[in-house]
Amino acid sequence: MKVLVVGTGGRDHAIAWKFTQSPRVKQVFVAHGNAGIGETAACVNLRTIEEMADFAEKERIDLTFVGPEKPLSAGIVDLFESRGLSIIGPNRKASRLESSKCDAKVMLRELGIPVPEFENFSDPARALDYVRSIGHQVVVKADGLAAGKGSLVCDSVKDAEDAVRSIMEERIFGDAGERVDIEKRLYGRELSFFCFTDGYTVVPMVAAQDYKRARENDEGKNTGGMGSYSPHPWLTDSLIKTIMGRVAEPLIAGVREKYGILYKGILYLGLMLVGEGDDITPYVLEINIRLGDPEAQVILPRLRTDLVDVSEAIIQGKLAGIQPEWDPAYRLCLIAVSGPMKGKKGWYKGYPDRYKIGVPIEGIDAIDRDCLVFHSGTERDAAGRLITTGGRVLCVVSSGSSLGEARETALSQIEKVRFEGIYYRKDIGLE
Ligand code: GLY
Repeated sequence: MKVLVVGTGGRDHAIAWKFTQSPRVKQVFVAHGNAGIGETAACVNLRTIEEMADFAEKERIDLTFVGPEKPLSAGIVDLFESRGLSIIGPNRKASRLESSKCDAKVMLRELGIPVPEFENFSDPARALDYVRSIGHQVVVKADGLAAGKGSLVCDSVKDAEDAVRSIMEERIFGDAGERVDIEKRLYGRELSFFCFTDGYTVVPMVAAQDYKRARENDEGKNTGGMGSYSPHPWLTDSLIKTIMGRVAEPLIAGVREKYGILYKGILYLGLMLVGEGDDITPYVLEINIRLGDPEAQVILPRLRTDLVDVSEAIIQGKLAGIQPEWDPAYRLCLIAVSGPMKGKKGWYKGYPDRYKIGVPIEGIDAIDRDCLVFHSGTERDAAGRLITTGGRVLCVVSSGSSLGEARETALSQIEKVRFEGIYYRKDIGLE
């Protein structure tokens, strides 16, 4: 079987790697990949979804798996299906659940799924009046896609005013800031929870802890994710039941019955678990239509079941016949990013602010073979040297029988990677 993976980041590297583990897969292509992915699979330089569909037809690709949200929102699934090509992921209509934070919140509220108190605005003056009047802390979210950085967590009214102005007036996230979703800031425990679904059956995967803030002790700006681990210590069988019964199942049935959306693929629930009396309420902070990055890097190595079998069951609407098996051992991922460094014209603050690219990377070959290395932003220069091309550069994924052991291993291995300005959080998994 030939598989095409769409994506260029660490998550997409992990997906491609997982397909190479399948005895049913002869060849894995990735559009368009990066230097590290090129060592796992065959990278093909396809930039548009039309080029990808042409390639899948010409190469007789049996299965396409989409990593990031952008091609899904652009309608890659609709295009492939219209040409009779097998593909995994939600279609364009379903993708609104991620590509519009405002519409998603309204749908969730209408379906009776727990969401924080919120209001949506397209007029900055009305948004400013609102944050001045409500009397509680808020999170201001750009409506559209913003590479995981579009949520601004505010400590004060002044922060909230600044967030509204920077998203809606300065347009720091471009057109994604045409509208904002302003929601009550909740306190509890964040959890990224994943499911497979064929639009009718919803099968829970496992959960992961993501670390969104750029600096240790959860300080600094929001990023796409600085590290992760799985299993999640809070995810008991009873909590899985609560999340499935109160969120995942009513969501998939509700969008199908009320909005005519047949949601197929991966469902990623960004949840805040809030203790209320003896109960835990799983509030939905966000819905993503894909695997998380860096959550996929710790979840896929735990999946014992063949991803091809799961993918086929999703496409054929036969997910009820699949019970994925998971390795109970811990996986922990540390992301190395392009951090602060001096440039010719002053300082680069480093990811998620401005960072330098083209910096040579060394030391990866010394990493212990028991660890996995997935690349996010790397390429080879004309001389064949590995260089940085992004804010998130690469990650090291370790395993261990305890979280502490996995953490020690990851820290001791990532130390071997060297590039100017390298930064990684040392508190990932420090509970
Ligand atoms: N790690 C967060 C995300 O993938 O959106």
